[in-house]
Amino acid sequence: METLFLGHEVIRLATVPSTNSYIKDLIKTRDLGEGFMVVTDYQTSGRGQIGNTWYSERGKNLLFSCFLRPHWLAADQLFTLNMSVCLALVNALNAFMPGFSIKWPNDILYDKRKIAGVLIENSLVGSGIEHSIVGVGLNVNQTIFEYPLNATSLYKLSGIEQDLELLLRNVLAQLERQYEKVRLDPKSVMPDYYSHLYGYNKWVRVQEKNKVHQIRIQGVDPFGHLMAETKDGMRHYGLKELKFLLD
Ligand code: BTN
Repeated sequence: METLFLGHEVIRLATVPSTNSYIKDLIKTRDLGEGFMVVTDYQTSGRGQIGNTWYSERGKNLLFSCFLRPHWLAADQLFTLNMSVCLALVNALNAFMPGFSIKWPNDILYDKRKIAGVLIENSLVGSGIEHSIVGVGLNVNQTIFEYPLNATSLYKLSGIEQDLELLLRNVLAQLERQYEKVRLDPKSVMPDYYSHLYGYNKWVRVQEKNKVHQIRIQGVDPFGHLMAETKDGMRHYGLKELKFLLD
C-alpha cells in the first residue's frame, strides 16, 4: 500500500446498497479510524448528488467510500475537501491519459462526457466538521451506459481493459496527497482545481430554471457556490440552480 493511512483498513463487499450508507450505519456501532474504506463490486441503491441514483454494472467499475476526519477544516472551508477529491481523481486519470476535467460541483469529465462522480457527506458539530464520508464512483471497464446516456469509462475512451486494483491504488495515493495538501493549507488546492475546472474563464452554456444562457466561471466561494459572470453581472449559484449544457 503506497498510502500512509488511506485504505489501511478496508471492508470489501460483493454487494451493498451504498458504500456511503454502509459507513454511515457502521459509525453508529463502532469507532472508525481515519482512512477506513468500503469497496464494493455492486450497489443496489448507489446514491448521487441531489437525490440522483448512481448506476454501475457489477464488477466493472470503482465504487468506494472513505471515512475522513477533517476536523481542522472550518465549515466555511469545507468545499476545499471536495476540490481535493476532484483534483485527486483528475490527476489519477490524467496520468493515465490527458484530457480529464472537473465539472463543478462533483463530476469528472472527458470531452464533455461524465466518467466519475463524487458524493461527500459531512457531519458537522458547531462550526466544525466531525467527519466526512467521501464516496467515489469511477467508470472503468463498463461499455454500455443506459443512464446517463452521455457517460463514459476508461475502457470506452482507450479500448483497454483496466486492472481495478491498480487503478484504486493510484487513486488512493492521489487522494491522500491532495488531502494532506488541504490539511496543510486549504487554499493551496485552488489554483490546481481552477486549472482543471470546466468553464473556468470560458463562456459555457447553462440552463437556469427554464432559461438557457452563458456564464463564465470566476471561481467557487467559501460556501461551495459557483461564482460566475453573466451578461447581467456576477452571480453566485447554489448546487441545484444550474445545469451545464454539454452538447
Ligand atoms: C454524483 O455524480 O452524483 C455522485 C455519484 C457518487 C457515487 C458513489 S459510488 C460509491 C459511493 N456510494 C454511493 O452510494 N455513492 C457514491
